Amino acid sequence: MISKSTIDAVFDAVRVEEVIQDFVQLKRAGSNYKGLSPFSDERSPSFMVSPVKQIWKDFSSGKGGNAIAFIMEHEHFTYPEAIRYLARKYNIEIEETVASEEEKALIDARESMYLVLEYARKYFHDKMLNSDEGQAIGLSYFKERGFTMDTIKKFSLGFSPEQWDAFSKEALGQGYKLEFLESTGMTINKEDRLTDRFRGRVMFPILSMSGRVLGFGGRILGNDKKAAKYLNSPESDVYHKSKVLYGLFQAKQSIAKLDTCYLVEGYTDVIQMHQAGIENVVSSSGTALSPDQIRLINRLTKNITVLFDGDAAGLRASLRGIDLILEEGMNVKVCGFPDGEDPDSFAKKHSSEELQEYFAKNSKDFIQFKASLLVDDAKNDPVKKAGLIRDMVTSISKIPDRIQREIYIQECSRIMDISEQVLTSTLAQLVNKEKLDELKGDKKPQKAFEVVKNDAATNSEKVDVKYELERRIIEILLLYGNTEEDFEESYLQSDDEGNIQTITNIQKSKVFQKIFLSLQEDEVELANPLFRDIYNDLIEYFNQHQEFVMEHYLMRLPAQYSLEVTNILMEEEREHLHKWEVQQIAVKEKAESISQYVSETILTLRWFLVHGIIDELKKSLSTDPDADNAEILGLAMDYYRLINAFSTKLGRVMSGFR
Ligand code: CTP
Ligand code: MN
Repeated sequence: MISKSTIDAVFDAVRVEEVIQDFVQLKRAGSNYKGLSPFSDERSPSFMVSPVKQIWKDFSSGKGGNAIAFIMEHEHFTYPEAIRYLARKYNIEIEETVASEEEKALIDARESMYLVLEYARKYFHDKMLNSDEGQAIGLSYFKERGFTMDTIKKFSLGFSPEQWDAFSKEALGQGYKLEFLESTGMTINKEDRLTDRFRGRVMFPILSMSGRVLGFGGRILGNDKKAAKYLNSPESDVYHKSKVLYGLFQAKQSIAKLDTCYLVEGYTDVIQMHQAGIENVVSSSGTALSPDQIRLINRLTKNITVLFDGDAAGLRASLRGIDLILEEGMNVKVCGFPDGEDPDSFAKKHSSEELQEYFAKNSKDFIQFKASLLVDDAKNDPVKKAGLIRDMVTSISKIPDRIQREIYIQECSRIMDISEQVLTSTLAQLVNKEKLDELKGDKKPQKAFEVVKNDAATNSEKVDVKYELERRIIEILLLYGNTEEDFEESYLQSDDEGNIQTITNIQKSKVFQKIFLSLQEDEVELANPLFRDIYNDLIEYFNQHQEFVMEHYLMRLPAQYSLEVTNILMEEEREHLHKWEVQQIAVKEKAESISQYVSETILTLRWFLVHGIIDELKKSLSTDPDADNAEILGLAMDYYRLINAFSTKLGRVMSGFR
């Protein structure tokens, strides 16, 4: 694990504008920077970076956050990967914390394996480009297939010499341990005789999403029918075939940007498509497409187009993949090629524009695709037709979204000329059966993760008012939390004669303290779970730090809060900019009446939250005529008094709100 002090050092060094400038051209706009969104194709810039707050916001995609969030989003890195990247950029030495002995051994072993694999990649690449044998055999093979030098470098293709142990010897000589040469599968150790797994083959390194070498595919030269065409690295602690997609590292940006991904079968298909200018393409490389692989794509886009060779095997494989993709809640299209062509051969003959046009014209959604099989196969065979319809409905039943299912049922009905009712009842049977299987535990239910904006978001408008108020509390804390303000404190007092009067005091208090104490007074919490967490985090931060330095706070903000906080701040920023443009003075006003703004917001929110409590109390009243509800009623009355007090203070009739 990366040590906390390294993470702190990274936080301290990082400047969001410097990090982003490596990927997006930024221009000054007032106190901010603007640029074209790297997450969508746009003409006019809606991507904003605030050097003061050290955050960014992409108004076209809604994404935003701090520098770490940008790297995670743009490079599709995990948190530790992002930290490592930034540490490299700012020349910060990465210190690893001591984990438990076992963990440490495992981490060390994995790291050593990565080092061996990275060394092997360099070795094969270098052998191909710089040795006579490599140039004569490996390089010329790739050249013959039409790969350019740029392509060869982009995919770091290589060559393994035709000797028993050339690689193993060299690696051992360089100090790499036999243990890791074996565990990565690069060296086979039999009766103390070492042999290289890959000999006399052209090499395709297989990279993780973040670009680490996990293993290799090695192709024999020529077309020896007896030997296996490809030899692949075995499964290992770092290489899990079903969790890797070939080409994803090179494709991820393009997939996210174009919001669609092509899926092909082989290494060379990926490479040839890239060379033809289609970069959003990956391959499952010989293994059947797995749910994990689909989820890797799902992180980048919801849209997959399966490209398959004309042959029957390719067809069967893509048919199997379709249902899995649908099950992940993704959209799937299918596109075939003219007879005898595969993505490799086809891409070689066509320009990027021609390819795009071809895919646009020939991609079919899965219903159309399955229907087209029937045309070729057995149009007049009612048994086959029935089987196919059942098959289509099975696919439809995999779709998690009900509306989408409905649409496909309609389409299926139209294409196959069969009534929707029949299809719907077949679908219901299938869905019910699946539910039953789930209950029996045959299959784990897979629910898409969903962020719920508000528990009762479906209720009515009043919920939104509460949502807005809670959001405003966060905004106030972020903008004015640490400023000291004069607040009016009023309370009731009886004088010596027993007359009750209202005493009003002016008290100095920090805004965050005022908010915290007021909410605590009623023993209420923010209703929205995300706001509640951010609220607690902010209060804790204020209590621990004398000063509130916005960028300091934002830098340390956990990723799950980062987007919401950024949204709040950037909205304010935009308003700010806008107001400055329109009316130079407007901005100040908000700040001048902070105390009033805060008091009003708190009171209104308390009013809502307390009302919530009263509603709960009412619900808990027993309907049993003999039950004693006195205590609950008493409590409710107390809360009503509280609410009336709020209303008086606010000088308006709050019930008009509801
Ligand atoms: N494959 C494999 N082992 C084999 C054959 C194939 O692992 N013996 C995998 C490889 O990942 C290969 C993919 O299946 O890329 C698709 O196979 P194929 O279409 O035969 O390979 P291509 O990549 O098209 O190779 P080439 O064009 O060089 O024949
Ligand atoms: Mn091929």
